[in-house]
Amino acid sequence: MKESQPSAIHLKDYTVPAFLIDKTELTFDLDESTTVVTSRLHMRRNPAFGKSTAPLVLDGGEDVKLIGVAMDDYPLPPEEYRVSEDKLIITATADEFVLTCETLIEPQNNTKLEGLYRSSSMFCTQCEAEGFRHITFYLDRPDVMSVFTTTIIADEARYPVMLSNGNQVERGKNDEGKTVVVWHDPFPKPAYLFALVAGDLAVKNDVFTTQSQREITLQIFTESHNIDKVDYAMEALKRSMRWDEEVYGREYDLDIFMIVAVDDFNMGAMENKGLNIFNSSCLLASPETTTDDNYLRVEAIVAHEYFHNWSGNRVTCRDWFQLSLKEGFTVFRDQTFSADMHSATVKRVEDVSFLKTAQFAEDAGPMAHPVRPASFIEISNFYTLTVYEKGSEIVRMIHTLLGEEKFRAGSDLYFERHDGQAVTCDDFVAAMEDASGVDLTQFKRWYSQAGTPIVTATDHFDAETGSYQLTLKQETPATPGQPTKLPLHIPVRVGLLDKEGKALEATVEGVTAQDHVLHLTESEQTVVFSGVTTQPVPSLLRDFSAPVKLRYEYSSEDLLLLMSTDNDGFNRWSAAQQLAVNELNTLIDQAIKGETLAVDSQLVDGFKTLLNDDSLDPAMVALVLALPSQAYLSELANPIYPAAIKQARQYLKQQLATALSAEFERTYQAHSMSSGYQPSAEQIAHRSLKNIALSYWVEAGDEKAQQAVRAQYQSADNMTDQFAALSIAVNGQLDSASELLAAFYEQWQNEPLVVNKWLMLSAAQEQDTALETVKSLMEHPAFDLKNPNKVRSVLGGFGQSVSGFHKADGSGYRFLADQIIVLNKRNPQIASRLCTPLTRWKKLQPELSVQMKAELERILAEDLSKDVYEVITKSLA
Ligand code: PHE
Ligand code: ZN
Repeated sequence: MKESQPSAIHLKDYTVPAFLIDKTELTFDLDESTTVVTSRLHMRRNPAFGKSTAPLVLDGGEDVKLIGVAMDDYPLPPEEYRVSEDKLIITATADEFVLTCETLIEPQNNTKLEGLYRSSSMFCTQCEAEGFRHITFYLDRPDVMSVFTTTIIADEARYPVMLSNGNQVERGKNDEGKTVVVWHDPFPKPAYLFALVAGDLAVKNDVFTTQSQREITLQIFTESHNIDKVDYAMEALKRSMRWDEEVYGREYDLDIFMIVAVDDFNMGAMENKGLNIFNSSCLLASPETTTDDNYLRVEAIVAHEYFHNWSGNRVTCRDWFQLSLKEGFTVFRDQTFSADMHSATVKRVEDVSFLKTAQFAEDAGPMAHPVRPASFIEISNFYTLTVYEKGSEIVRMIHTLLGEEKFRAGSDLYFERHDGQAVTCDDFVAAMEDASGVDLTQFKRWYSQAGTPIVTATDHFDAETGSYQLTLKQETPATPGQPTKLPLHIPVRVGLLDKEGKALEATVEGVTAQDHVLHLTESEQTVVFSGVTTQPVPSLLRDFSAPVKLRYEYSSEDLLLLMSTDNDGFNRWSAAQQLAVNELNTLIDQAIKGETLAVDSQLVDGFKTLLNDDSLDPAMVALVLALPSQAYLSELANPIYPAAIKQARQYLKQQLATALSAEFERTYQAHSMSSGYQPSAEQIAHRSLKNIALSYWVEAGDEKAQQAVRAQYQSADNMTDQFAALSIAVNGQLDSASELLAAFYEQWQNEPLVVNKWLMLSAAQEQDTALETVKSLMEHPAFDLKNPNKVRSVLGGFGQSVSGFHKADGSGYRFLADQIIVLNKRNPQIASRLCTPLTRWKKLQPELSVQMKAELERILAEDLSKDVYEVITKSLA
């Protein structure tokens, strides 16, 4: 451990910057060994800060070497400035001046992938959140917005493509014969949106005509061998641009929009102004190498980054506590976009099931934090499911409370009022309130209060008066630093069904309808529905109208009814999931007690009806057939018995497979098609149903099914079907598994993104030798510790292997801890994210819990990065 431990910074300590930077002029002399960065910062004291003689304090990093500083072009003598830890401090300044800094950096030694670094043969940058300070000394905070001009000097032969934000204004040669390119971005922006790329890249060009008839040049850059895989992203970009005009009235502002794909990237993608940089796994797509899920992900991320141009760039965050201002809103925008492009219900089910699995787990663990955190040690740790996904749910609830039209008026007002500003979540809510007249005072607690609320519903029907009383209680469990909680404003969308599943009309506070949004604002509240003619079955929390855990004593009959008749598609899925969860919980209890598993599954009939009803959306049937995941069941459990959960899921799947083997076979055949691959909603639906049907059918132990898997693997003309067949063979532990795994690698070894899928599937295998497997994968030529995608594939995959990760002797945890220790210094962001599975130790069954805790303590004994330190100390607290 270090002597001095990193300390937290707090939202309540926010002050405006003492200085502003009106213009930023940067020159990069790019070179493989050292890059010289010269900055000219046109600065002045901030009038909003008040009169002051405070010194100028610029952020930097230990990796930035200062060569010289000048003030208004006069070199500063050493006594007038100092570099202390990672700050450059200049004692006395005028009220207005130009500060020049010359610094040296070494991109080729940058393994953290923050700032300027090398990925394959190119230079690229990543500046969010605090990466810019690893390029040069700066006021690296989002409320300092500046107009950037960037000069790039490099060797034309190796770096013919040299890009930065905005428009290219000059290109020529200098005296040494190097190429000099100048970019100018007219829109003031914080440094986190700065980007630079240089390399020998191929480009795909296109154009987009905006609603006001401006022609925008669109360019996607990749290494030349990947340029044939960008067509889908380009189309997705154009769809996003059109959608943002139509749905939000937002038009693109610069004349050019560029995207670059890089192989080494800590996150998914980055919305740098006019120059988005993408992890190649989130951009490249072709039928042969990309699965349906990945196609949808590419589309969603292209849209997400594009939408940031308004929600994030034109209007940005005042400070990093406000991160959800841009992320929550932008996730909401990309989710709605994808819903409009494909099936809204399918998209909602996928998003909610992800939220309930992963965000609920985060919100119940040691890293739980409000959507607007009150403090942090390392901001990189707060790019979380809470800030993103729960943040999006908050915006969605505002949409529900205001309705479509007023929500749009609120967003128009927000963009108009704050264009060019760095603002807060409160400003966002204020715009929504001002445009709609809706009071969101209590609602705002969603931003400051962590934890998932539990809403418990009870009811009473009075046949004589035709009144149905629904009582709702809310309670939010304590989270770290927040022992007591206040009631939230929770929109609960409700409908009532009769015993045949027909929607009932009912009157609530004078409004008669089949569907009502109730406002739960107290700890306990009773709502009366009148005009109810028969004992109803309530359909609660329709479309998942709030991110809460709903409790209501549904009988299995109620759930079967909702599952087959509710006209809220989301709740049909939700009822089926609940039924499955109930049965699985019974089985899990039996497994924990060591009893023989037995359940008289109601799901058999439910599934049978589904499989025989050809009028249903095959995508929805597929989602219902997917049993609640190991991860979701773990989130629900306390304590978690990983092996018991695994056993219960396998047992139930087997039961269903055996009982419905003929239905699964028929479904598999019925949804197999031969027409050419399209990543369309319709085809995706058929493939997903076909492949899940196949996964059940093989469980029934039918030899024909095993042959079907092999045949599909061999004849597939697209990665979705090929990889589905491979996964079924591996996860079903079929005899063909190892042969197919080897063949797959052989076939795809030169396609890194496909190899990553292979690494993940291999690492996630359930077998006694899982730990040895993952160790050998890390020695495999396809593995590379420098590449975050490879690390995520192997170690992320391993985390899913119950038999590997949760080995009784703790060796799985020890292995992961060893990797975290290795990566801690090399790439702290990746190391920190790898800690997530270990943060769950308190909820694990006692024998495993102690082993996991011991590994956390072992990590803590190391000299830790801020990133890992924060997660480990909070986990052990
Ligand atoms: N701002 C990016 C996004 O949400 C995510 C990101 C954060 C990327 C930090 C890189 C570094 O789109
Ligand atoms: Zn984002």
